[in-house]
This record gives sequence, structure tokens and C-alpha cells, in this order.
Amino acid sequence: MRKLTTLLALSLALGVQAQTHVMTVDVSKPTAQIQPEMYGIFFEDINFGADGGLYAELVKNRSFEFPQPFVGWVPFGNVTVQDANPCFDRNPHYVRVVNDGRLLRAGLDNEGYRGIGVKQGEEYRFSVYARTPDAKPMKLSIELVNSNAQNLLKKEIEVSGRDWQKLTAVLKSPFTDAHARLRIVLETKGTVDMDHISLFPVNTWKGRENGLRADLAQALYDLNPGVFRFPGGCIIEGNSLETRYQWKNSVGPVENRPLNENRWNYTFKHKAFPDYFQTLGLGYFEYFLLSEDLGAEPLPVISCGLSCQYESNEVVPMDELDPYIQDALDLIEFANGPVTSTWGKVRADMGHPEPFNLKMIGIGNEQWDKVYVDRLEAFTKAIRAKYPTIKVVGSSGPSASGDKFDYLWPEMKRLGVDLVDEHYYMNPDWFFGNASRYDNYDRKGPKVFAGEYASHDHSTKKDNNFLAALSEAAFMTGLERNADVVHLATYAPLFAHVDAWQWNPDLIWFDNLRMMRTPNYYVQQMYGMNAGTDVLSLKMDGKAVAGQDSLYATAALNAPTGEIILKLVNAGSQPAEVQIDFNGLKKRQLVAGSCTYLQNDNWRTVNTLDEEAIVPRVRPVQVKGQSLKLELEPRSFGVYRLQVK
Ligand code: AHR
Repeated sequence: MRKLTTLLALSLALGVQAQTHVMTVDVSKPTAQIQPEMYGIFFEDINFGADGGLYAELVKNRSFEFPQPFVGWVPFGNVTVQDANPCFDRNPHYVRVVNDGRLLRAGLDNEGYRGIGVKQGEEYRFSVYARTPDAKPMKLSIELVNSNAQNLLKKEIEVSGRDWQKLTAVLKSPFTDAHARLRIVLETKGTVDMDHISLFPVNTWKGRENGLRADLAQALYDLNPGVFRFPGGCIIEGNSLETRYQWKNSVGPVENRPLNENRWNYTFKHKAFPDYFQTLGLGYFEYFLLSEDLGAEPLPVISCGLSCQYESNEVVPMDELDPYIQDALDLIEFANGPVTSTWGKVRADMGHPEPFNLKMIGIGNEQWDKVYVDRLEAFTKAIRAKYPTIKVVGSSGPSASGDKFDYLWPEMKRLGVDLVDEHYYMNPDWFFGNASRYDNYDRKGPKVFAGEYASHDHSTKKDNNFLAALSEAAFMTGLERNADVVHLATYAPLFAHVDAWQWNPDLIWFDNLRMMRTPNYYVQQMYGMNAGTDVLSLKMDGKAVAGQDSLYATAALNAPTGEIILKLVNAGSQPAEVQIDFNGLKKRQLVAGSCTYLQNDNWRTVNTLDEEAIVPRVRPVQVKGQSLKLELEPRSFGVYRLQVK
């Protein structure tokens, strides 16, 4: 230690300075265009991301269609499940509640998704389809029960008539509770049938009925996503072909969308979720609408006739593939077709006569081998023949390299797909070490869609910690530098319910009342908000900055404002002196600047629902002339926006 201090003193005395890293940005000639949709989001109903998450329905198993029809419900008194003369043919079950006068009460409670989250003073829209075989009017009491079993709100509605009718009531909650319950009680002696029992916050995203949780949708909006890939992931493949995601089941009246199992229910043996199903209440119409709200290009992914190749690996024979291909063609018609077309009319009837302007479609998720290539080829031919401008996205399999990857990429080139969807869930070292991954990719082949990626820090059980986030920020400098070949990039997965998740890390965590943006979220946001329009060459010692001395950098021009945008990562544990010289400014100068940055000394720091320890901060940057001197803090990621005049 003494020796070290002496050395330090000596070097100071001799005037030895920390090394200045000189970087050069060439402003005169952009090297590539950055796609406006480059940074986006990938949504899948995993971790209770849709039902129980983004989809704002608070009642679980509202249609009694779960294989055990009372899952989510606690019936009391004489309550049975029936299906004679149902209200909805594709969801035929309903409950019959009989109050025979001997029991004080008859009815049922719903537990929601790990509880029902209600906030004091907020309004909730209750609805039920009901009928009574009895001639006289019957009274139902709709109650909100807190986690201490007190029913603190009670509202009565009347059921009359033998035909199904929709009844509604707005409940204003007098309390806040993340684990409340909904109770429905038949107060009058007699019989009532009930189906599709639903409770939504009135305050959904954009105030829509059958809407989305406002805070979660807002978090997506705040990412400024350019592309929105949905609805999965493995759920599009299904554990079996029968349970693949069938988009046609997810449109039309919400009450009649048939239930599907969720492929993530039993995937991990140590983490089973027997109550995980897809109501499809958040379906293709809602996904397209959300894309529109977010200003993101929709990118639906559709089954290619292979169930999950990790699970059952069922394969549709080539001579039976037509209905699957037809699903893809019909989907394009649903999104873009005129209102006079069959599927365009379905869209219009749902309230959106204008087309959604779909431009691309994913065929299959993480598929591999010849079985995939054969099927993709058939899909591609049919889509190209009918919709030549629609871009086709193929897959390079489940990993960043290896046999499957090496086989698939040349096949993707042979088929001439427009984009290849690459997936990589790797450790932070891999992300730091792969910032040059795309530097030597073939520029003449299909473009890259980094469709699922996340840094997995196994030393912390894959926390969404600062190490993972910074490694992603470093890696993404390489995506941006190679924007001529990398056209799209989306982190995965997007959402996780803190009490019901199967997979981590995830971009946004939530409980029934709150949500938390991870450090990884803020990295995505900083890229999404500051993409720029054109890549500028940025070099240090004649090379791209991709890990030398733990530094990572990329530069972009934002043509509409004329700003230069730098993204700089210092992954080292010491500050780094950087000088950036801007060539090609001619008589122009840097006149003002700001830096949005993330910094933390501790790799293991995470955000929690109670406290977001890592959030972007903004500071002004002193600029002068055609050069910039910066001291990059250790373990930091900064986005610099520089004005030029
Ligand atoms: O993002 C979670 C899963 O990871 C996706 O469903 C799948 O595509 C990948 O294996």
C-alpha cells in the first residue's frame, strides 16, 4: 500500500496525467440511416403480463371456462356451473346461484390475480350478463372486500327477465388495497344465472372499456418505441399445436373469445402456475390499437405450423399447411384490408375502419431445422404473391450462435426474407464482449431484428441490476453503429408480476397497484428517446470504440434538429478522460449540450417497487468550438445531445 501511495505521489510530482482517450466524430458524411422504428418493445403474455397485468381486467376466470370452472372463485351457498342455453356459444359456462331462503346468503367471491388492486376514490366498472328464470326481479349485491375480509362497499343491482342482459354498476372504492376481492351476493330468494363477470378500473389507458392498465401502458409510451412485436414468444407456438396462439380467436366481442391455456403455466417445474390461462381479452385488435397509440410499427408473429420445438414439437404436414398460411394472409387483411373485405369488416365492426398499416409479419418464433425452413418458404411465397410490400421476418433460432444459427442464416438468405429475428439471453460479459458483433455482418443479406435479448447476471439470480443494464447499454452502441444492418431491436421479456412470474429479468415489474421501471428500462428509454436519424463515424485510434479500456461509444446525427447525439459507456471502475474532436463541422461550432446519464458504483444495485435507485439524471454540458472534453464517471452511461450552429 505504502509503495502504491509513493508511486502515485511520484507520478503526480512528475505531472503524469490520466490517459486522455481521443475520439473523432466525422460529421460530414453519415455512414448509415437509423430506422425510425429501430428501438422497440416485445410483448408476450408471460409473468402474468397480459391477464393480470397490462390487460386491466381485475376478475380472474370471468367466464368460468378454466378447466376447473371455479378457479379464482370462492362460491358460497348453492352455486353450480351450467351450460344449457348459454349466453356465449364459445364460452358456454355460467354460474347458477340459488338463494333458497334457508341460507342467509348465496353468491361468490373472486380473488383476482393474486388479489384485486383497488385505490381509494378510484372508480371501477362492474359488469355481468345475468338472467333469472323467476318471474320477479332479483337483487344482487356487488361488494368490494378488503384484505381483512371487511366488505366496505356494497352496491345493489336488479336482475329481471328470463333473457340474458348486461348489467353494469360503477363502484367507487372507499379504500386502497392490493389484495381486495370482489363479492357478488344474491340477496333475494330465487335463482339467478350469471356469466362474464367483469371489473375494470374506469381509469384505463385512454379511458377505454376493455382497456389497459394506465400506468403500465404509460410506461410503454414513455419508451418511445418504434416497433411493437406481439403476442410472443413461445406462446405463439403453444405447448401443442392445439394451444398455439390463434389470432382469429382474439378478435370480435370480448365475451366470446375462447379461453386458451398459457404456455408458461407449467414450463418450469419448480414454478408452476396452474391458474395461468389466456382470455384473449387483450387480443389482436387491442394490440394493433396499442401500436397506434404508441406510435410504434406493429409486428405480429404467427404460428408457422410448428408447436414449441422445446416441448411437444408437433409439426403440421406440408400438405395441411394451407389453413396456417391463410391465417397469415387473413391477418394482413384484418390489419390493412378495406372495410368491404371479410377481415377488414371485422376490424371496422370493432371500431377501426381505417387500416392499421401493417408493414411486417413474423413467421414462427424460435424455430429451427429444415421443418421450419420448408414451412417458412411456403408462407413467404404466399405472402409475397398476395402482399409484395409486406416484410417477412424469419428466425435464426433460439441462440446467438451454434449449429441451429449457422444452418438458419444461410437459409434465410436463400429464402430472401427481409429480416432475421435473433435471440440472445447471455451473461453481462457476453454483452460487453459483443459490441462489435455486427461490424462484419453481410450488408447484402436480410436485415437483423434483435428480437429478444437481455443480459442475465447469474451471480445474482438474474436480477435486473446495474451490471446487466450497463452491459446492454454497451452492447447497444454496436447495434446503433451497425444500423445499416440492424434494423430493429427489442428487449425481452417486457413485464413481470412480482407475485406471479416465471422468467427474469424483465423490463418492468409491477404488483396490483404499483409498477417499477428497471435500470434496463431506462437504458432502453435513453436509446428510444435519442435514436437520431443517421449514424456518424466515431473512431478512437482508427477503430470503432467497442470495449477498449472499457469504453463504448456511438455517434448519430438527428437531422430534424441538427443535433449530434453521442452515447458513451464507461464500464470501468475509474473515471475516463475523453476528448472528442468533431471533423467536418466547417464553420459550425458546438453551442450547447446536455447529458442524460445513468451512474452507479455498485453493479448489484436494483430498483424496487418502493424505490427506484437508478434513474436517469440530466446535466448541462459545457461545450466550445469543435471539440468536447469529458470526464466519464466510472460505471456510467451517458447520452449527450449537442447543438451545433
Ligand atoms: O422471452 C421469453 C421467451 O424466451 C420467449 O417466449 C421465447 O421466444 C424465448 O425462448
